[in-house]
Amino acid sequence: MMCSCEQEILCWFYFGTLLFSIYFHSVTVIGAPLKQDVLDSGSTVLNHSMSLVHRMETLLAIGNSSDVSLRVQTINTDEMKVIQAHSLVLSLQSDVFEELLLSRNSSALVLTESPDCAAVFAKFIRYLYCGDISVRLDQAKSLHILASKYHVWGLQQGLTQYMTQHLSSDSPTGHVVSWYSYALQIGDNTLRDSCLQFLSWNLSSVLQSGEWISISENLLLSLLQRSDLILQSELELYEALEGWIGQNQPDSTTVESALRAVRYGMIPPQHLFRLQKQSALMVKYYESISDLLYLAFQFHSASPIQLAKYFDVNCSIFTPRNYLSSSWGSPWLISNPTRDDRSFSFQTQLGPSGHDSGKRVTWNALFSPRWLPLSGRSTYTELGAMQPSRTDGGRPRIIVTPATSSPDFAGVSFQKTVIVMAKQQGKVVVHDVYNFHQSTEEAGDFLKDADLQRRTSEYLIDSSLSLHIVIKPLYHTLLVARK
Ligand SMILES: *[C@@H]1O[C@H](CO)[C@@H](O)[C@H](O)[C@H]1NC(C)=O
Ligand SMILES: *[C@@H]1O[C@H](CO)[C@@H](O)[C@H](O)[C@H]1NC(C)=O
Ligand SMILES: *[C@@H]1O[C@H](CO)[C@@H](O)[C@H](O)[C@H]1NC(C)=O
Ligand SMILES: *[C@@H]1O[C@H](CO)[C@@H](O)[C@H](O)[C@H]1NC(C)=O
Ligand SMILES: *[C@@H]1O[C@H](CO)[C@@H](O)[C@H](O)[C@H]1NC(C)=O
Repeated sequence: MMCSCEQEILCWFYFGTLLFSIYFHSVTVIGAPLKQDVLDSGSTVLNHSMSLVHRMETLLAIGNSSDVSLRVQTINTDEMKVIQAHSLVLSLQSDVFEELLLSRNSSALVLTESPDCAAVFAKFIRYLYCGDISVRLDQAKSLHILASKYHVWGLQQGLTQYMTQHLSSDSPTGHVVSWYSYALQIGDNTLRDSCLQFLSWNLSSVLQSGEWISISENLLLSLLQRSDLILQSELELYEALEGWIGQNQPDSTTVESALRAVRYGMIPPQHLFRLQKQSALMVKYYESISDLLYLAFQFHSASPIQLAKYFDVNCSIFTPRNYLSSSWGSPWLISNPTRDDRSFSFQTQLGPSGHDSGKRVTWNALFSPRWLPLSGRSTYTELGAMQPSRTDGGRPRIIVTPATSSPDFAGVSFQKTVIVMAKQQGKVVVHDVYNFHQSTEEAGDFLKDADLQRRTSEYLIDSSLSLHIVIKPLYHTLLVARK
């Protein structure tokens, strides 16, 4: 009895050394690939790592030589699952397990998990043995919770990456909002920011989905602050906000903060009139936002430049978001984008103010797939965005200029925004957003990672590059007459 036990320990010791040496070996290889090549020249690798993984899987499945039984209890229920495991493997992968195993009293380790985590616990343990795992959309969060709880950092990182890449995937009830709250709760800023950016860049879809009603106050208010929201119009946002408030019935402070984040200057006056009389929400909270509505009507009544002489127009109520409706810009589909330069014209309103919205501006856009700066002749060097590594056959560039100049442009700077779509997991999603004044050179990294030559490039949707250009007038505060 004693003897066989000792043998077992010896065997485990040997196996442990093996695992550790594999582990450290691979770390060395990553650190010094060149040296490794030299040392190993003339030798041949016999690679049986797949069969090792298979043996590990069998070991877990059969539970031979198990020295710990994991009793996974579902919180607030009598449900209990038992997994025969091996303390060496658990400790190797997780210092939390190592700690728990050292301080345990018996051969069993009782773990209490939420129902969702208990449901994927076996999968999680299998990962510790085999190093691979298959993940479904509805399992990612629970697995992430387990990986974080037990300090399995590699898995945690992999899951964050999986979630970041699957934001646009279809799910019956939506998942991004719940991933966002989770990321916020655990302080995973990468995931939180990816979720927030996805929601911001895909806001029209989100507003129309069932998920919208379920978003938290905190998320609602963070979204409303952002100027990079991509949506049809500010009116669309107001109406969705009305729906959210109707369903969630938050306290009046929250309603007021939310209503005050709407950019009323961006809503045409005829709609503001209607809302003022017919939106029950606006009627109820009229007092809380009457100053903003008054400012918006002033904005609509004259040229913004007149307003700028007396009022601060550099504030969010006069700052556009990325509106997709046709008065603000145009989609631009460029087929076979690497072939040659392409030009395109479109019209926008001069500005969102009632005074300007009837005036049209024609814009010319020029796309060059392989533009090379003529060094020393560039007009944009002062922006410091030029990279020295431009000798590689050129990079894509877009220039947007007005077809004619007009005295109406005085005091306005037109910010151009190019929204770039790409295919991700079979879905068309907004991949990048670039802001610039005249040329994408200013952005520095325009389509930097888009290999348009490659037929399978995610940026090519039916062999076309899919863009949307938005023109956003920004006004400068003059405030000269007040002094
Ligand atoms: C051994 O094979 C596996 C899978 O076939 C592969 O992932 C691994 O890189 C190989 N290792 C070496 C050292 O060649
Ligand atoms: C597991 O143990 C049993 C006996 O305890 C043995 O018959 C069987 O071959 C073992 N299986 C493996 C895969 O080692
Ligand atoms: C181990 O046993 C002691 C005494 O029986 C008990 O006080 C302690 O809480 C136990 N520890 C664990 C981790 O179960
Ligand atoms: C918006 O999200 C939906 C899923 O919620 C996705 O199918 C669609 O591709 C996304 N669109 C964009 C433009 O990101
Ligand atoms: C507008 O305000 C922002 C911050 O509130 C500031 O960074 C920016 O320089 C201002 N622009 C002008 C033109 O006054």
